[in-house]
Amino acid sequence: MHIAEEHDRTLAPMRCFPPAFVWGTATAAFQIEGATAEDGRTDSIWDTFCRTPGAVAGGDTGDVAADHYHRMPEDVALMRSLGLGGYRFSVAWPRVLRPDGAVNQRGLDFYRRLVDRLLDSGITPFVTLYHWDLPQHLEDRGGWTSRDTAFRFAEYAQTVHAALGDRVLHWTTLNEPYCAALLGYGAGVHAPGRRDPRAAAAAAHHLLLGHGLTTQAIRAADGGARVAITFNLYPVDPADPDDPVDRDAARRVDGLQNRLWLDAVLRGRYPDDVRADLARFGFDEHVRPADLATLAAPVDALGVNYYSGYRVTGHGGPDRRRAEWIGAEHVRPVYRGLPRTAMGWEVQPEGLTRVLLRVHTEYPVLPLYVTENGAAYDDDPAEDGTTHDVERRDYLRGHLTAVHDAIERGVDVRGYFCWSLLDNFEWAEGYAKRFGIVRVDFDTLARTPKLSGLWYSRVARANALPG
Ligand code: NOJ
Repeated sequence: MHIAEEHDRTLAPMRCFPPAFVWGTATAAFQIEGATAEDGRTDSIWDTFCRTPGAVAGGDTGDVAADHYHRMPEDVALMRSLGLGGYRFSVAWPRVLRPDGAVNQRGLDFYRRLVDRLLDSGITPFVTLYHWDLPQHLEDRGGWTSRDTAFRFAEYAQTVHAALGDRVLHWTTLNEPYCAALLGYGAGVHAPGRRDPRAAAAAAHHLLLGHGLTTQAIRAADGGARVAITFNLYPVDPADPDDPVDRDAARRVDGLQNRLWLDAVLRGRYPDDVRADLARFGFDEHVRPADLATLAAPVDALGVNYYSGYRVTGHGGPDRRRAEWIGAEHVRPVYRGLPRTAMGWEVQPEGLTRVLLRVHTEYPVLPLYVTENGAAYDDDPAEDGTTHDVERRDYLRGHLTAVHDAIERGVDVRGYFCWSLLDNFEWAEGYAKRFGIVRVDFDTLARTPKLSGLWYSRVARANALPG
C-alpha cells in the first residue's frame, strides 16, 4: 500500500507538541488478534461470553477479529508507513500461560516477534498486561472476585516481563479496571457477564491489588522499567449545580468512575465517601490493611483513556443502561444535546483538558499519556474503498487541541494513542462499531487507511496540529 509521504504545505504548525511527544495508536489483543485456538491459546472469559446467546451484538466472536495474529508484519508496516512512533498493545494472558501454569512458548514468541518488528521499525512498544481477557480457568475459580487472581496476575506479568523486559521499557498493568469490575461483574454487559454488585466490589479491589503486586514485581526485577496503569476518566457535572440531589449524584458517579481508582493508586487510600457508598456491597470486607500500601506502589506514569463526559441527575429514577453505577442506582445521565458518536457518546473535547488538569493539580505530579481517545462512526466507504471519515478526523482534531491546551497549562502529557489503529471487535457491540483510523474489510481482511488515518499521520510527522 502506498501512503502519501509529503507534508500538506498548507499546514501552519500553529500548535506544536513537545519534542519527543509520542504519537501512537492503541489496540487490545482480543479485539484484533483472532486465532483464538492457535498455538496453544486457551479460552478467555471473552471467548466464553461470545458464545453466550445474546451477549454480543450479531453473535460476533473474536475468532478471526482483524486477523492480526497472522497479519502482524503487515500491521507494523502500516504503522511505520503512517509515521507513528508508538504502539500500545496488550498481551493475551491465555496465550502465554497454560492452565497448569506452564509457559506457552509459542504464544509468548508472537509478542517477541511483534516487539522486535516494532523496534526494527522505530516504533516504541507500550505493553498492557491486562486488557480484559482473563483466562477462563481462573474465572471458573472465582475470577477477579477471588483474591488469589491478583497473585496469579502478578505471576503472569513476571513471565511476560522476563520474556520482553530487555526490549520493552513501558509497561501498563491494567486497562480500565473500572470496566473489568463494573461492566463485567456488576452490569453483566461485558465478560464474564455477572450481574452482582457484591462481585463487582470485590473485583474492583482485587484488580487494584493485582496492579500493586505487579508493579512491585516488575520494579524488583527491573529498576529501569516504567510502570503505569490506565484509567478511563470522565468529567462529571451535576445537571443542576444548585440542586443538592444532583450534586450528590455527581459526587457518587465521580467517586465510582474516577476517585476510587485515582485515590487508591496515587494516594494509597480509598475515598471515605466511596467506601460508604459501596459498604452495603461488602467492599471493605476485601480490603486488608496492608493492601493499601501495595495498591500505592509508586508508578512512573498514568494512562488516561478519554471518550466523553457525564452530566448527571439524581432525579427521574434509574437508567437501566447504567446498571454498573452501583451505589448510584438512582442516578441517570442527562444528555446535553451535543453531537454524539455512533456509540451514543457525546463529543466533549474540552472534557479531556479538564480531566488532564484535574489529575495534574489534585494528585502527585506524574507524566501522563492519553492512552486512548477516538470515536466510532458509521463509515461509508466509497466504491474505490476509501473512507472519507470527516467526523472522526474532526473528533481527533478537537481532542488533540484539548491535549495541547492542557500542555500549555503546564500538564506533563508525554504522548497520545489514538483508539484505534484498526476497526476491531468492539466488545458487546461486536464489529458493528468501527473505531479504526484504518478500515478493515471484515470479508477480505484488507486494510485501507481512512481520511482520519492519513490526517493523523501528517499531524504525527509534523508533531503539530494544523492551525
Ligand atoms: C476503552 C477500551 O479500553 C477499548 O477496549 C474499547 O474498544 C474502547 N474504549 C472503545 O469503547
